This record gives sequence, C-alpha cells and structure tokens, in this order.
Amino acid sequence: MTDIRFHINGEEHIVPRKFPATTSLNDYLRETAGLKGTKVMCREAGCGCCAVSVTHLPPDSNTLKTYSVQSCLTPLYAVDGWQVTTVEGIGSQREGFHPLQERIAKFNGTQCGYCTPGMVMNMYGLLHQKPSISAQEIEDNFDGNLCRCTGYRPILDAMKSFAEDANIPNRKPIDIEDLNKKLCPKTGDECSNSCATRRLDLQLNGVSWFRPVSLEDLGELMKANKTRKIRLVYGNTSTGIYKTDGPFDVYIDLHGVKELYSFETSQNMVRLGAATTLTQLLERLRGHQNKPGFKYFSQMYKHVKVVANVMVRNSGCIAGNLMIKHRHNEFPSDLFTLMAGAGAEVEIICTDTGLKIVATMQDFLSKVDMLNKVISAVLLPSLPDNVVYRSFKITPRWQNAHAYINAAFRIPFTAQTIQGRPSIVLGGINSKTIHATKTEEFLTNKSLSLAVVKEAYSILRDELVPTENPLEASPKYRKDLASSLLYKVLLGLNTSRNPKLWSGSESLHRPISSGLQTYQEMAEEFPLKQGLPKMTAPLQASGEAVFVNDMPKFQHELYAAMVVTDQGSAILESVDASEAMKLPGVTHFFSSKDIVGENNYKVSSGFFQFPVHELFVSNEVFYAGQPVGLVLAETQALALEAAKKVKVTYKEVSPPVLTIWESLAKDMEFKDARINRVVGNPEEAWESVDQKVEGNISMGSQYHFYMESQVSLAVPSEDSIDLYAATQFGDMCQHAAANVIGKPLNYINITVPRLGGGFGGKSWDTCAFSAAATLAAYLTGRPVRLYLDMASNIHICGKRAPFVAKYKAGCSSDGNIQVIDLDLMMDAGYTAHGAWYLSDCLNLVDMGYYIPNWTIQGRSFRTNKKTMTAVRAPGSVPAALVIETILEHVAKAVKRHPVAVKGLNLYEKNQVDLRGQELIHCNMKEVWRRLKDTAEVEGRLKQIDAFNQENLWKKRGITMTACKYAICFFGPGHGATVSIYGRDGSVAVSQGGVEMGQGLFTKVAQGVAHILGVPLDNVKVKPNQGIISPNSLVTGGSIASEVAMQAAISAAEILKERMRPIKEKFPEASWKELCDKCVWSKIDLCARVLNSPDMGSPANYHTYCAAVTETEVDILTGESQVRRVDIMADYGESLNPVIDIGQTEGGFVMGLGNYLTEDTIFDSRTGRILSDGTWNYKPPTTKDIPIDWRVHLLPDTPNPSGIRSSKASGEPSIGLSVGALLANKLAVQAARKDLFGSEEFIPVVAPFTVERAQQSVGLDESVLAL
Ligand SMILES: Cc1cc2nc3c(=O)[nH]c(=O)nc-3n(C[C@H](O)[C@H](O)[C@H](O)COP(=O)(O)OP(=O)(O)OC[C@H]3O[C@@H](n4cnc5c(N)ncnc54)[C@H](O)[C@@H]3O)c2cc1C
Ligand code: FES
Ligand code: FES
Repeated sequence: MTDIRFHINGEEHIVPRKFPATTSLNDYLRETAGLKGTKVMCREAGCGCCAVSVTHLPPDSNTLKTYSVQSCLTPLYAVDGWQVTTVEGIGSQREGFHPLQERIAKFNGTQCGYCTPGMVMNMYGLLHQKPSISAQEIEDNFDGNLCRCTGYRPILDAMKSFAEDANIPNRKPIDIEDLNKKLCPKTGDECSNSCATRRLDLQLNGVSWFRPVSLEDLGELMKANKTRKIRLVYGNTSTGIYKTDGPFDVYIDLHGVKELYSFETSQNMVRLGAATTLTQLLERLRGHQNKPGFKYFSQMYKHVKVVANVMVRNSGCIAGNLMIKHRHNEFPSDLFTLMAGAGAEVEIICTDTGLKIVATMQDFLSKVDMLNKVISAVLLPSLPDNVVYRSFKITPRWQNAHAYINAAFRIPFTAQTIQGRPSIVLGGINSKTIHATKTEEFLTNKSLSLAVVKEAYSILRDELVPTENPLEASPKYRKDLASSLLYKVLLGLNTSRNPKLWSGSESLHRPISSGLQTYQEMAEEFPLKQGLPKMTAPLQASGEAVFVNDMPKFQHELYAAMVVTDQGSAILESVDASEAMKLPGVTHFFSSKDIVGENNYKVSSGFFQFPVHELFVSNEVFYAGQPVGLVLAETQALALEAAKKVKVTYKEVSPPVLTIWESLAKDMEFKDARINRVVGNPEEAWESVDQKVEGNISMGSQYHFYMESQVSLAVPSEDSIDLYAATQFGDMCQHAAANVIGKPLNYINITVPRLGGGFGGKSWDTCAFSAAATLAAYLTGRPVRLYLDMASNIHICGKRAPFVAKYKAGCSSDGNIQVIDLDLMMDAGYTAHGAWYLSDCLNLVDMGYYIPNWTIQGRSFRTNKKTMTAVRAPGSVPAALVIETILEHVAKAVKRHPVAVKGLNLYEKNQVDLRGQELIHCNMKEVWRRLKDTAEVEGRLKQIDAFNQENLWKKRGITMTACKYAICFFGPGHGATVSIYGRDGSVAVSQGGVEMGQGLFTKVAQGVAHILGVPLDNVKVKPNQGIISPNSLVTGGSIASEVAMQAAISAAEILKERMRPIKEKFPEASWKELCDKCVWSKIDLCARVLNSPDMGSPANYHTYCAAVTETEVDILTGESQVRRVDIMADYGESLNPVIDIGQTEGGFVMGLGNYLTEDTIFDSRTGRILSDGTWNYKPPTTKDIPIDWRVHLLPDTPNPSGIRSSKASGEPSIGLSVGALLANKLAVQAARKDLFGSEEFIPVVAPFTVERAQQSVGLDESVLAL
C-alpha cells in the first residue's frame, strides 16, 4: 500500500489515500492544490473548460506522451506517476505569459474568460503532439471546447496564428522552447522511465483501487475480487454519459496493462489492443488506409474524427466505448456501428479460466456475458477490393454530439450488381437493432436500378422500429433518415451518374473558416474609440482572473447543494433529510421552516415589481426543479450526494402544464398582462391590399449556458455578512439576502468580482442563490459556498420564453406590407413576472421594417415552469423570428426573393415606428444598401439559383435580415468612483456595472485614461462593491458599458478640473508629480458621479444592423452549414470597435443556437427538464459558426443621442441570425419545388433542427431518382 505521487507543473504531490475513488483530478486541482485556473462546469467532458495537459509514459512505449484531457472525468488515482500541466504552469503575470495566453488575449479571443484556460490547455496539448501544424488541424482540435461569449472566430484566429499555413496576420508558429519540454523536476529533462506507470494497490476506506501491470496481474485481481462489484477504468469518460453506474467496490485502472496496447497487422487483419485510445485509433487508421484491403480505413478515419471530442478521444479507449454499448444497448456507439459494419471481431479474455474467445460484434453484444471478462483487442479484417464501405453519423450539430442515428454499409459491388449479401448496420434505432436484415436480404445479388432503389428505401424504412424517447429525434425521422442514408450509398454506387443527383451521395464538406472585420477608430480620442482587446484578457488566459468559485476556501467553510422538486404541479407533503444527514460530513439541512426573514428572494423596488418567489417551497409546488431546501456538507461532492438523498413527498399531484396550448385550454392566461395594440388604421388597410398571407410560428426555449454556473459565497463577519456573488444585479442580490434573514441591507457587504457569462440569467435568478447562501451562513455562523452543478442550474433557473404567433399580413402586389394582424402568445412560466418579455417582444416586433398598420394582441400564459427570464435580447429574438418570417412569407406569395421584398419594407428616416417614435436618425436603409453591395448579394443570388438548378439533393439559401434595436436608458443608472493615488499617479475606478465578458471594465478604463490623459495601463477598474456603488441598476439591456463609462468619465472630469490650478501652476510637472502636488495641496483626488441618463421616449436611440446569411442544406439528411455571413452594424462611434465586434459575433452565434439547435425538453409526466446536460443540450461549437464571416462597422456615423456618440452592441446582432433558419428554409423550399412542384411556404418552427429541416422536405420513395 502506498500513497500516489504525481507532478503538477513540476511540483511533486504526494496524495494521501483519504480521497474517495471517484475524486477527479479537477477536484484535486481546485480544492486541494488550490489551482483554480482550471475551471469546472459540466463534469461531463462536454464543455472543455477543465482542460489540462498530461504527460506520461505508456507501458508499450519509450516515449513520453503529452496530450490534453478533461480533468473533470480523469480520476485522481489514475494520474499516479504522471505529469500534469495546468494553465498556471505555462505562464503567469509574474513569470511572463505563455505565447498561447498572449495570443488568445491579443486576438480578443476571451470575453468572460471562463472557457479561456481550457482553450489554452487544449491547444497546449495539441502543440505538444505536433508543434508544426496546419490551420485545418488546429480548427479540428476545438470540437470539445465550448464558448458562449465569443462566437469562436477570434479564438480560432488566435490558435490558427500558430499554424504553418494560416493566412492570419501576426502568424508565428510556436517556439519549441515555449512548449516547456522540461517536465521532470528531478533532472530538468524529459521524464525518464522512473516516471513509468507502476503497479498500485490502494485501499480507500473500504473501496480498492488497483493498477495491474500485466494481463496476468489483471486476471489475478479480478479473480481475487470476484465477489465484489468491479469497475474497470481506462479514460473514465463513460461517467460523463452514464453517471449512475455504480457505486463500485473495486476500481481497476487498465493504464498499466502492456498487453492491452498492442498493434499488430497482417495482410488479412489489423489487431488493435483494447487500450488503444480513439486518438491512436485515428493515427492507425490513417497510417494503414493505403494498404491493400484496408482502404475502408479512410472512411472510418473520417467518422472517428467526429466521435466525441478531441479530449475524450485522447483519453477514452476503444474497449471503453464498446463496453458502454454492451452495458447500455441503446447507446448509439459509433465505434460499434463502424466495426460491426466492417465485420470486425472482439477478442475477450475470461479472467476465471484464462481462456480467450473471439466474437463477432453482434455476438459480443447479444451473447457474451462480460462478467469476469476483459476485452483484450479488436480485430479489423481486410475487405476485398470490390467492397464499398461507407458510414454516416447524423447529429443535431456539426460536432461533439452523439448521433441521431449512425450507419455503416458494406456492399460487395461489381458491374452494377451487389455481389452477395450486403451488410447494413444501424445505431440509434433501438437497443436491439444491429443489422437491417430484411433490406440486406432484399438487396442480395440485386442489380442496381431505380426500382430496386425505391423498394430498398421503403423496405428499410418499414423494417425499423425506433424507440420513442423525448430526448432523441422522432422515430419517423430516424426511419426516414436511415432510408436516406441507404439512398445516398446506392446513389454513390451508380456509375452512370446523373450530375444533378450526384451531390446526394456526398456528405456536406466544411472547409476551414475565416473572418474579416472592418471598423473605424477615432485617433483623436484614443485610447477611447480604439480597437483594443480587453485589459484583463491575459489574466483570463492564464487562469489568474478570479471568479467567485475560485476564491480560496475560508476556514470552516461549508459547501451547499440545493434540493429541488421533481414534480411540477403538486402540494408539498413532507421533506425528510434524515438519510442525507446520516452521511459523515453532512452538517445541516435548511428548508422554508428555517427562514428567519421573508421567504421571498425577488424583492420589489421601484420599477422592478415582482410577485413573491419563494426561496424554498412552503406549500404549493409550481415547477419541477423548484428549490425545497439546502444541504450543507464539508465537500461539494458530499453536498450533492446528500441532496439526492433528501426525500420529498407530494400530495395532490397533477399533470404539469408545459405548453402554451395546454395553458390556453385550461384558461391559465395572465389576463392582467394582456396587451392589445392598434397602430394606424388596419381595417381600412385590409381593404386596399392585393395579397394576403397567414400562418403560424413557434419558438422553443433557450438556456443561457453561461460557462460559470450560478454561484454565491456568504462569509459571516463580526456584525454582517460578506457576500460574493456572480450576479448582474448586485443591488437586488443584496436586498434578497437581507430579506431572507430579516436584516437591513447594510448587514450585507456585497462584492461582484466578475461573471463567467451572464446573458440575463444572472440578474433575478441569482438572488435565490445569494439568499440561500446568506441564510445558511447566518444560521450556521460559517462561510457557505453554493456553486450549482450544471443539472441543478438547468432545473432551477429561468430560460428564454417560448412563443407562438399567429399572423396575417396584407401587402401590395410587389410585397410592400401594409398591414399585419398578430396574435402573440408567450409562455411566462409560473409567475406573471415572466410576462415582461411579452411587451418587450411587442415593442420590437417591427424590427427594421416599416409597417403602417398593425393589430396586435399579446397574451402570456402560466405554465409549470420556472418564471421565464431575460436571455440576451429577450424581446428581439422572438420579434426577429416573427417579422422576418412574415416578410419571407409575403415574398413567397408575391413570387419575389425575400431580399427584394425586405428591401422594399425597410424603415426610412423620419418614419414613425410601432411605438410611436419618430426615427429622426434612422439609417436602416443605408446599412442595408451598403451591406448588400459589400456582400455582393445580387451576384450571389444568381450563383445560388444556378447551384440549386444543378443540384437536386443539396440546396442553398440566402437571405438578409434587418434589425432596429431600441436602446433605453432606464432606472438609477450606474455610479463610478475614480480615485487617483497621489504618490504614483495610478488610477483606480470602482463602478456599479458588472464585468461579464462584454468589456465594460475596459471601456470604463479607456474613458478615464482619455480624460486624464494617462496611459491605459495606468488605470485599473475594480470589482463592483455594494458599499462603493450602492443602488446600482442591473447590468443588462446592453447599456451598462456606456452608462458606467460616462459616470467614470464625468468623475475623471471633476478630478481634472480640481487638478487644473495645480497644473497651471506647474505646467512642466509630470503626471506623477502633478498628482503628488495635488495631494499636498489638499485636493481630494477621489470623485464619484452617478450617471442616470434620462429615459428616452420611448427609446433613447436605435442601433441599426443587417446581415446576409447563406447556407447549404443536405436535403436527404437535413444537415446544414452556414456558408457565409456578412454583417453591417451601426454602433455610432464605437467606444471600442474590437470589443463591439466581439459582442456582435458572440450574439450572432448565440442566436444560431436559438434558431437552429437549442431547445429545452421536458418530461411530460412530471414537468422535469430532461435536457439537463451537455449530452442533450447543444449550443453551437466552433464548426457551427459561419465558414466565411465578415463583420463591418458602419463608418462615419456619430450617434447624436448616444453616450460619446456611440451605440450599444451587446444584444442587437442576435436577432439577425434568424437568417440562418430562413436561408435553410429557402433551401428546403427550393428542394420541394424541384421534387413536388410545390410553391408552399413552410411554417416556421424554431429551432429549425436538422430533423425539422429534413422532415419539412416530406421525402418519400416516389421522388427518388438514379
Ligand atoms: C462528451 C462525450 C461525447 C461522446 N460522444 C460519442 C460519440 O459521438 N460516439 C461514440 O461512439 N461515443 C461517444 N462517446 C463515448 C466515448 O467514446 C467513450 O466514453 C470512450 O471511448 C470510453 O473509453 P474510456 O476509456 O473512457 O472508458 P471508461 O469510461 O474507462 O470505461 C467504460 C466502460 O468500459 C469498461 N471497460 C473499459 N475497458 C475495458 C476492457 N478492456 N474490458 C472490459 N471492459 C472495459 C469499463 O469498466 C466501463 O464499464 C462520448 C463520450 C463523451 C464523454
Ligand atoms: S467541466 Fe470538464 S468538460 Fe465540462
Ligand atoms: S469567453 Fe468563452 S465562455 Fe465566456
């Protein structure tokens, strides 16, 4: 028995055996080693923020291997003998930043910074594997790192600047020195064998952890522990998918078993050891793909590249993947499908007898009991030259997503005839289906003809019986898709190709992406209006930026976890925490009975009037996921485990109301929130129109997906509580915290350091977590940290409101819309507070288009869901969907392209908008015109027409979208305090806005530096503190950066004025001398200003922007890609054009998620959210962004109504991305026209997923051709 030893950043760590076997490397790094640069969020290997690089010597090699892994799933005890490098280990402000950290900062590749260390470490691992690298390889390496802020483009640019071949300014490949090869602290050289994998036998409080070093050793251990529940572990990545397999008594780490690493080849076979990682598999497939009999490896290679993500592939092994399938037959394993499709076999060793068996994939799954057995290898056969092998994986987003279905086809084919029986293997259908036997049988020895193709298509569709699962695609789509894939293969076999059909046989190909940004700077006001990266970017990239959960552990600190309801509509009967309390280390449980103040975390004040929102349910349960209480424990893992053991019982359980339609049927409308509006004279207008259209639209719900989950830390001090909260609304969190403990606000000292993304989700909802942590700290007298796990975060928090719209529009014969009749219905969640977003949507629903006459009815409905909340541009996202859909529908009706019709309806100067405001400075048309020219839209319309005529199964769509975004200054605004330190002239600013990635601090510093005439790095902006900036407005609505910056500028101007007499007296004095003289002249060098601009009527000004979006759709599968996007935005004189472009791109990509891939799925019986993790909820990744992306800021347009002539950039661009949905729909409509002669307008449903796109084509065998 021994302790484990390993190195982190060159320092040896000897780890006592006190940690449970399930402790992750991430837990250790953050909680014990104090290395908080490595972040944590999903704990599912799905987000990448926890990436570190590891180095070790595999037992089959003399060479060290370095690669990046997700530390959240890497077991602590597995890294014995390894070198772990974290973001702190490669560079810091003290020791100098690493080029990777510098580059991502310089390219503006970090906004909130929460994903940034993960990005850096993923790249670090890659460069270790391959210092000379191509841009394509780099782009391919970021499939597992999510970023919700940036839209990825600048991250990719930063990383590609290390490529040998990238066309990126300031490109410079990595210097080998910088890769920090000196990993061994003993010798200063690369590690020697002394760091090799050694045998381990650890007894951990009743649980054993072994690491055998040979197959024999493994067998002995398995035999010896036969009566205990054994878990073999390699990468441990399966725990990111199946979290409840366990607990286990014995863990056996396979990293030391040399025999499992073998790689043997012969003419007939390739033998891959069970411990071959997916990354090694890729290398081996590529290395062997040109060998006779193995050309099918090139297809496998392409497919394995889209299995999981790079870091999972680095750590996960092939046996692990196959065993997931073995244990959970429904798992859509790509490896299983690929291998079964190729006719591979599995070699298995019985540890009882030592016997070896070899089984076909099918037998392995259905006949072999794997108890006391180990997979030792996989055998891939060579295939005759006439065999065509093709495989597919169709997913809801481009990468890092499991398959809707996957498929592998092995077809012996010569002279237009299938020779013998083909093999068709399908995954994702149900837990039993492997081969499509009837179709195989039918196709046996068939000659290729259209009749055969059609029959095979329908036989396949008919023989499949997919399981119903609300989290997966519909059975119908999965059947149709399988048939489409078969059609693709048969089409590809046909040697007498019809060129128009040929594109059907191929999958979409995504080339490397690129970006272009153009903007104007104002040199006379530098550093204001200068394109500068965020000031804290290097610290974010080095992991030194401190988020709330990164704060060091306080003495006696406790961790908290929320207990939530799992019924959506019921009365709470009892809450029993006794089982939870029995766990050693669990200290407290608090529920509504323990609240000493008011049981309400949404406290009303002024403009913000809320219904009561209970902190913990006292009686009626309104939604599944509603907090019932809080468990406190000595560790976070323990608190989470204990929370699951709290027993909640219910009475009067009724089926939850989860849709607008159900709520309507039950008369659950919030009638007080109904809005009726008439603009112009709609009745008269209906008389005069030439054409009428009507239709329905619906939109689902989007989760914020901020990378830092909700977190609050409450620390009791002598007569108050210090509250650290990740919130956009510190003032309200302070109030909520004080309210639940019945104390005045001055009892709570709130600090908001920074947020790892907010997007509206950390405004009201965070108050619950601040209040809960404060209550617990108050009751226990101990510091309490509440950091939500991802699933709880999704269950508890509000989301984007779903909408349904019924519309009627009347227009002239050329498409000029005269009148719209709109019935807009919104799901508000369980309280009327959610109804706010309805009026927001109604106020914005005209977007960039002038429609003179409207009749609008807006209704919001109560459901058993959390009260909906602000999600970036809560009103304009549904508004854009509604108005752009109506315009596209009108265009279809008048038989013109939507671009022409939209151009006709744009707002012009001095027109009056829907809210009755005259648009004196409107430049919507100018933005549109310039964009249309720059993006060469006319020419591209023709090209797309030509493409669509030449291709039946791939179609392209292009459209334009326009946005007029109302900016309203409201509420108390933000105050700023500027302090100049006389001794050295450095400047500190504290202000009421919150930095959440939008660059607020940088813009504030730029303004202050400009006024005081000091270099930018002389100014530091400090975290928001309630004591210095009390009564601050929520940071939201896009306005905080401007308002806070203006407050800071005004305070700096006061100081400048105070200093003027001394400056005049000592004109030659340096800044530093001047400051010092001021202090000794008794001048107060601290000034505070509250900037509370008057509210405009109804808006202060409008931001105008437009986009051109071109997409391509694979009509047979529904997959699509955004080929090109051009955006033109008017941000007046941008305060920082680089930051504003970052906001634009980030918003646009978040919108792509809303309109194309993201939705929240509920269990219809209980109301519980099912899509509560990265496995089932899919925000965009690096390859979902536009392939060619050009962003232009409109030059020479100072904004007369804005602060310092600028305009806001945070939210306007998001609605523009509805263009991707609409372009996809145009493509589908083009296909329907070709296939069925249909001129019908397809109803719009968002997200327009891959499934919805394919299903809206309405394919059947009658339209197939050969
Ligand atoms: C985020 C994410 C995305 C993913 N996406 C995909 C995808 O798109 N397609 C796909 O096919 N897969 C996907 N996977 C699955 C992934 O490929 C597997 O998790 C991985 O290959 C498992 O390998 P591992 O070494 O981590 O296994 P572990 O998690 O260590 O083990 C998995 C199981 O295999 C058993 N086991 C391991 N080795 C052996 C052996 N030699 N003999 C017998 N039993 C053994 C273990 O006991 C355990 O039951 C994804 C996984 C994650 C986390
Ligand atoms: S926290 Fe590890 S991948 Fe998300
Ligand atoms: S910068 Fe990437 S998540 Fe915020």
